[in-house]
Amino acid sequence: MKTRITELLNIRYPIVEAPMAWITDARLAAAVSEAGGLGTIGPNAGTDKVTSDVHETGERLRSQIRLCRELTQYPFAVNFVVGVVGWDRKYSDRCVAVGIEEGVPVAIVSQGSPAVYTQRLKEAGMTVIHVCSTVRHVIKAEASGVDAVVVSGTEGGGHSGFDQITTLCLVPQAADASTIPVIAGGGIVDARGLTGALSLGADGIYMGTRFIATRECLAHDNVKQALLDAVDTSTIAIRHGNPVAAGVNDTENRGFVEERRGSIRMLVNDYLRQVIAKEGMITSFEQAMQTDGEPAPASESNRTVEAFIMGNLERNSITAGQGAAMIWDIPSCRELIETIVSEARPIVERLNTIFR
Ligand SMILES: Cc1cc2nc3c(=O)[nH]c(=O)nc-3n(C[C@H](O)[C@H](O)[C@H](O)COP(=O)(O)O)c2cc1C
Repeated sequence: MKTRITELLNIRYPIVEAPMAWITDARLAAAVSEAGGLGTIGPNAGTDKVTSDVHETGERLRSQIRLCRELTQYPFAVNFVVGVVGWDRKYSDRCVAVGIEEGVPVAIVSQGSPAVYTQRLKEAGMTVIHVCSTVRHVIKAEASGVDAVVVSGTEGGGHSGFDQITTLCLVPQAADASTIPVIAGGGIVDARGLTGALSLGADGIYMGTRFIATRECLAHDNVKQALLDAVDTSTIAIRHGNPVAAGVNDTENRGFVEERRGSIRMLVNDYLRQVIAKEGMITSFEQAMQTDGEPAPASESNRTVEAFIMGNLERNSITAGQGAAMIWDIPSCRELIETIVSEARPIVERLNTIFR
């Protein structure tokens, strides 16, 4: 295939594996890149131990980058979450420094202003992709000099921005508002999503939830089974209002602090149902993830590891996108990517017959 994204990233198919904290490690990233997409190493990859040590966080990333290089010669990305000064920014700063030292080819920067890292990453020779959730953010990202943007709609797993714009409405507006390539994310899991996104004006797709249900993803089988069991109504977007983030006076990254008080999409399981029954629908991500007395963000990380890696869904929920309802199997990354590409062609041919 040939789009502005395959050309920019020098990959065969315009399919990007979205970063997912703890579960998108070097092995998954390399498998995606080997299969012709762009694999991404996410935050806290390759470990199940929560650390507050900044140096250790950087060195863990360094060994993941080196492992990925051993496993593939194709391009791959690293996710840098901008974060907030005084809380997680110090980890992000260290990870950016390590990424530059290791000569990472592509940066996917998310959850923060493009003003923070773009220039440094570009000067280091990286291709920079910025993750946005509104048209305003897309315009700002392009002005800051990024090479491409991801726009991710509210259907997506994880943070979906304050305004909860759907992928169907966000992608064409982002394509109209920018001159750089647009990668569409949020609810995309198959060839229909790929061809739909290209029709909306995107140059590629960004899939998180779908890549959890692959053989190479280290997420626990219970998590993969929960995705296979999901139906259309299995996820909800709930408030995310981290009090730590809200209290930080960070003018450089004000947008992120506001967005952090947006929403996050989670899979509704028995545990989350119990929390909602107890707390009411005003329940927040922090309420869903709290551990007796343990402060955020460590409690959130511990709960995430417990759920995603240990598979304890009895007392945890997980973040996942609405696309989970359209996941039926657990293929290898190569099988998944090849199926999406081969099933896209008949869709385009069917559309052509409509216009004959
Ligand atoms: C379990 C999970 C963890 C995530 N962690 C991150 C993260 O660490 N950094 C980030 O930028 N986005 C993160 N996201 C968002 C994804 O990168 C991506 O935007 C989203 O998964 C796309 O929607 P989809 O899940 O419908 O494919 C996460 C999403 C999920 C489902």
